[in-house]
Amino acid sequence: MRALTVTPGTPGSLQVAELPDPEPRAGELLVEGLAVGVCGTDREIVRAEYGWAPPGHDRLVLGHESLGRVRTAPEGSGFSTGDLVVGVVRRPDPVPCGACARGEFDNCRNGRYTERGIKEIDGYAAELWCVEADYAVTLDPRLEHVGVLMEPTTVVAKAWEQVWRVGERAWYEPERALVTGAGPIGLLAAMIGVQRGLDVHVLDLVTDGPKPRLVEQLGATYHHRGVDEVAGELQPDVVVEATGVGRLVFSAMRNTASFGVVCLTGVSPAGRKIQVDAAGVNREMVLENDVVVGSVNANLRHYRQAAEALARADLDWLGGLITRRVPLESFADAFEARPDDVKVAITLDGGR
Ligand code: BGC
Repeated sequence: MRALTVTPGTPGSLQVAELPDPEPRAGELLVEGLAVGVCGTDREIVRAEYGWAPPGHDRLVLGHESLGRVRTAPEGSGFSTGDLVVGVVRRPDPVPCGACARGEFDNCRNGRYTERGIKEIDGYAAELWCVEADYAVTLDPRLEHVGVLMEPTTVVAKAWEQVWRVGERAWYEPERALVTGAGPIGLLAAMIGVQRGLDVHVLDLVTDGPKPRLVEQLGATYHHRGVDEVAGELQPDVVVEATGVGRLVFSAMRNTASFGVVCLTGVSPAGRKIQVDAAGVNREMVLENDVVVGSVNANLRHYRQAAEALARADLDWLGGLITRRVPLESFADAFEARPDDVKVAITLDGGR
């Protein structure tokens, strides 16, 4: 079978390799890959800035935004041939730390977790892959063409859960949310914000293309003015920050309503410096009981929440997020950024 592999730490090493078909171990499903999504983390791995091969190996099979169809499933696993499934990204650390021992591997404390397609375990960008039944999630069959959006949806399902848990330390009825960045994470965060009944605003730089339209189709409001101006006027109760751009992060922190929660989801490259009135930020956060919370990855509870959010969403709208589908053999095209890209998916089944 063919798989998309990379040698972490070596730029220009991305290639389609012919690998032996995987053999499911006890308790594992054998899955035919349908597609994988490409995200910023994949691009970082391809640029040799992130990513780790499995111990004792040079190459890593890429792909953590999975979608596949079960070919074989162990009896009593609850899965059947033909089921549409997604594999979970992270596995708990081997110690395990207190969080991992409780299924909260997304909040692993010692950093020794592993991640499919990212950190020490092969990913899902393969024509065939195996996954432990305990780390697979079934999707509504109607999601066949958009189910590759599941993993980024888990990330935002977790982000919203974090926002609510922080907010519920006191009376909490947030009304207005600002999402910074209209990429897949920002748009899916906006979708969940709308599903939760908030007045959602999305800020990005572009003035045309699919992003403003997708925001409006959700019933949210699109903005492309400066962040200080937009956030300053809106005074949002919640900000979901999905760009990782330092200036936006600090502007969001300064411009929330009282009791504001800013949830940071963007993994930014370190080293870019900006000037900040740190004492001013501190003063405002203290006097307003504001909170800034970082959020990464997702556990099985968030996969269930995401599956529900996708099942409730408009299929055409979700389809509009996948702006390009590239067959495996043309993988290089998938990694070339185009101005109108939202989510690019690599198809693994010949695009059938
Ligand atoms: C993935 C997460 C992962 C994180 C850090 C993100 O792109 O969506 O699942 O935890 O990268 O490796």
